[in-house]
Amino acid sequence: MPSADDLAASRYARMRWNTPLSEEHGALLLERLAVPPGGRVLDLGCGWGELLLRAVETASGSDAASVTGVGVDTDEVLLARGRQLAAERSLQQQVTFLKQEAATWDEPADRVMCIGASHAFGGTVAALEALAELVRPGGRLLFGDGCWERPPTSEAVELLGEDIRQLADLIEQARALGWRVLHFSTADQREWDDFESTWLAGRQEWLLAHPADPSAAELRAELDARLREYVGVYRGLLGLAYLVLAR
Ligand SMILES: C[S@@+](CC[C@H](N)C(=O)[O-])C[C@H]1O[C@@H](n2cnc3c(N)ncnc32)[C@H](O)[C@@H]1O
Repeated sequence: MPSADDLAASRYARMRWNTPLSEEHGALLLERLAVPPGGRVLDLGCGWGELLLRAVETASGSDAASVTGVGVDTDEVLLARGRQLAAERSLQQQVTFLKQEAATWDEPADRVMCIGASHAFGGTVAALEALAELVRPGGRLLFGDGCWERPPTSEAVELLGEDIRQLADLIEQARALGWRVLHFSTADQREWDDFESTWLAGRQEWLLAHPADPSAAELRAELDARLREYVGVYRGLLGLAYLVLAR
């Protein structure tokens, strides 16, 4: 494989999913999401849909065809990985991956997931409003969104933007828009460190294997800058809140 293709493939290679979340925490969220037998699960901004696949797998139990899912994302490379994962787990009849702008999706589902993708709707408030139209009556939404763990520095706001709230404000915002909060939890420090490390690790490994590649110097500088930003600017400040919401 040419080194450029190799590099592209390495980008997400070390990540389980594209959010700070441990196996145990992921299992807890799926328990709280409580996908019903025969239910339909929709994941907007799904990436390669690992949590969606687990939601369908877990809820289907022995009745392998009982739950169906659809993942929506704009990145074809990630969607292809999702389709491959579905095929490897014999879930290709149950879970489909579609390339589409999340904000244009209009088919409601029993359970909706939107993790780290509120920007696809124009921000947190717009996402919580739009997602209300996509959860069927009696349904639930798993919403993962950034939050400040404590008052941010001006440097962190400059880097990460204005549309991030402290957890209490995020919860109040959801309530103000008519949602009831069935569950909330935040990513802990180890989940964040693992997320940031695995986000860089695939490309770190590529660099070690191709130290003299023409693009190595630029990539090395990019990875160093990202790590410096994380540990120097937002580690311990930026959180990720997982809310299970209903209305
Ligand atoms: C931080 S990742 C989270 C992925 C996934 N939810 C997970 O937890 O692994 C955000 C995802 O949103 C997708 N995305 C960004 N803009 C989008 C849009 N307008 N419509 C659909 N997906 C979008 C990106 O391609 C990316 O896969």
